Amino acid sequence: MEQTTRRKISYSGIQPSGVIHLANYIGALRNWVALQEEYDCFYCIVDMHAITVRQDPRDLRENTIAAYAMGVACGIDPVKSIFYIQSHAPAHGELAWVLNCYTPFGELGRMTQFKEKSETHADNINAGLFTYPVLQAADILLYDSDVVPVGEDQKQHLELSRNIAVRFNGIYGDVFRVPEPFISKSGARIMSLADPAKKMSKSDPNPRSYISMLDPRDTVIKKFKSAVTDSESEVCFREGKDGINNLMIIYGVVAGKTNNEIEREFAGRGYGDFKMAVGESVADFLSPIQEKYHGLMADRAYIEGCWKSGGERARAISNRTMATVLEKVGMVRR
Ligand code: TYM
Repeated sequence: MEQTTRRKISYSGIQPSGVIHLANYIGALRNWVALQEEYDCFYCIVDMHAITVRQDPRDLRENTIAAYAMGVACGIDPVKSIFYIQSHAPAHGELAWVLNCYTPFGELGRMTQFKEKSETHADNINAGLFTYPVLQAADILLYDSDVVPVGEDQKQHLELSRNIAVRFNGIYGDVFRVPEPFISKSGARIMSLADPAKKMSKSDPNPRSYISMLDPRDTVIKKFKSAVTDSESEVCFREGKDGINNLMIIYGVVAGKTNNEIEREFAGRGYGDFKMAVGESVADFLSPIQEKYHGLMADRAYIEGCWKSGGERARAISNRTMATVLEKVGMVRR
C-alpha cells in the first residue's frame, strides 16, 4: 500500500498577558515563522493560561487581539498555519482535566515557573497556577506535535509534557506523539537590559528592562543607550560579559551578523557606538513590523476572520484527539 507522507507538526503558544517583547520574538516567534516553510504549524494565543494570574477582562480581551495581530505582523501566515485563540478550542480544557488525573502532585511542585510565580503573586496562588503546565501539555498533545519552538525558560514544561505523554501511552497504548523542544542555540534566553543577570520579562516593573515590539524608535534607542553592561570597553563575546553578550545576540539577530563580524565592526570603538548601533538596528527592524501591526489592528474584520477560521480548524482537529482520549480512559461515547 502506498504510504502518504505526513508533514511534521510544529506547535507553540504565547500568553497575552501584557506586551509582546523582543525576547519573545527572538526566543520563540522568529522560529515559529521560520518553521512554517517545512512544517504544518499550529500557533496559539493562550488566554486560558493568562487567567492563572488576575487579569482585567477588558485588558485581557484587547491583549489577546493585539497578540494575535502581532503574530501575523511578525510573519505568521494565518492561512498556511493554524493560528488561533486557545479558548476557542474547548478540548484544551477538557484534555487538561484528564491529564491532571495522570500527573503526580510532586512533579508539578518541582516546576520553577510555579515557584517563581507563587512568589510574585503570593496573594493568589491558585490551583490553575499549579496545574498550568498540564494545560500546556494538553495544548501540545492535542495536535500530534513533533516540535515545540520555545525559549529556554519553557524547557522544564516541555520535559513535563513529554513525561505526561509517555506515562499515558504506557497505560493506554500509543495515543500521543512525544514532542521535542525546538530551542535555538543563540537567543533562547535574552536578558533584561537593566540587569543582565535576569531574563527579559514582560512582568518586569521596570520598562527600561525590556523592548516592547511596539516601542517607538526614540524609546528603543534610549533603552539600549542605558543598557547595563560592564566597566570594560571591548566589544567581544566572552564569559562574564553578560550585558555585552546579550546585546551582541540581539544585534546578531536583527542585523544578521555573526559574533566575529560584530567584534571586527566595533574593534577599537567604545560601548557608546555599539549601543547606538544596536538601538538603531532594532528600531529599523521593528519599524515594518509595527506598521503592519497597526494596519491589522485598524482592520478588525480581517483579523477576526483569521482567528475565527483558525479556531474552527483547531476545534475540528483537537476534538478528534479528545474523542480518542475519552474512549481510551473509559468514557461512554456521546
Ligand atoms: P510566554 O508567553 O511567557 O513566552 C512566549 C515565548 O517567548 C519565550 N521567551 C523568551 N525567550 C528568550 N528570552 C526570554 N527572555 C524570553 N521570555 C520569553 C518563551 O520561552 C516562549 O517560548 N507557557 C508558555 C506558553 C504556552 C506554550 C504552550 C508554549 C502555553 N502553551 C504550548 C509552547 C507550547 C509561556 O508562558 O510563554
